[in-house]
Amino acid sequence: MNSVLITGCNRGIGLGLVKNLLTNNLAKSVIATCRDPNKAEELKELSQKYNNLHVFQLDLKDFNRYELLVKEVSDIVKGSGLNVLINNAGISSKFTRVNLVKAEQMTEHFLVNTTAPLLLTKAFIPLLKEASTLNSSAPLGVQRAAVINLSSVLGSIADNQQGGFYPYRCSKSALNAVTRSLSFDLKDYKILVMSLHPGWIKTDMGGKNALLDIEPASDTIVKLFLSLTDKHNGGFYQYDGKSVPW
Ligand SMILES: NC(=O)c1ccc[n+]([C@@H]2O[C@H](COP(=O)([O-])OP(=O)(O)OC[C@H]3O[C@@H](n4cnc5c(N)ncnc54)[C@H](OP(=O)(O)O)[C@@H]3O)[C@@H](O)[C@H]2O)c1
Repeated sequence: MNSVLITGCNRGIGLGLVKNLLTNNLAKSVIATCRDPNKAEELKELSQKYNNLHVFQLDLKDFNRYELLVKEVSDIVKGSGLNVLINNAGISSKFTRVNLVKAEQMTEHFLVNTTAPLLLTKAFIPLLKEASTLNSSAPLGVQRAAVINLSSVLGSIADNQQGGFYPYRCSKSALNAVTRSLSFDLKDYKILVMSLHPGWIKTDMGGKNALLDIEPASDTIVKLFLSLTDKHNGGFYQYDGKSVPW
């Protein structure tokens, strides 16, 4: 891959993916965004070691910044487009039951988990198209152009047997709807779009009881990215490649 952009990289899965791509030398440019680069100590250390890591400030709620970020990324990739956009950053409220749900929480989750990935993808369509056109001999997948939306099995309506988690579940179900629509809207440009459940991972969001450690989980996720084909376009898959019901 020439270039991969990941949002929310100062910690958790985003940071794990950045480290994996850099140590395995999988992309010419790894573009990592975070809300406050000055406080992102691990990213700062990594960018001293790897000169193909580029860190940019991005708060997903700052929609006015998106076009400037596209310009900054264009300057990095210099006419080769963006191969992969990973919409990773997300939020999850701890209050789960119906008696505790609040309107502001619902709005906030939709803004960060659904609206932002959609609008960020919209902003990057020209660069994704550019990469897809330049790599037209490659099959549909990350070597050409792809958008990967970090969803969750909690966003699966079919799999919901426990209730609760309204803001998170609803915003991730809506993100899956975004994935599905984008996969049709970007089909002619040969840009693959998929939703990924990364597994239950030990991060601030996943908590310490989660099943998977960040490093091996990131490795599994990156392997899945590299194996994506047209069969995954518009689908919802988990880390081990199994399809997740909508
Ligand atoms: N961990 C799991 O078990 C699990 C399971 C299923 C799905 N996922 C999904 O995987 C993705 C990553 O999760 P994680 O476990 O790594 O979560 P995490 O440890 O809580 O990290 C979340 C990341 O998102 C960033 N973020 C939050 N709000 C943002 C905003 N408004 N603008 C920009 N960045 C923002 C955070 O930045 P700050 O540090 O600045 O807050 C942080 O970098 C999420 O989309 C999550 O829903 C995780």
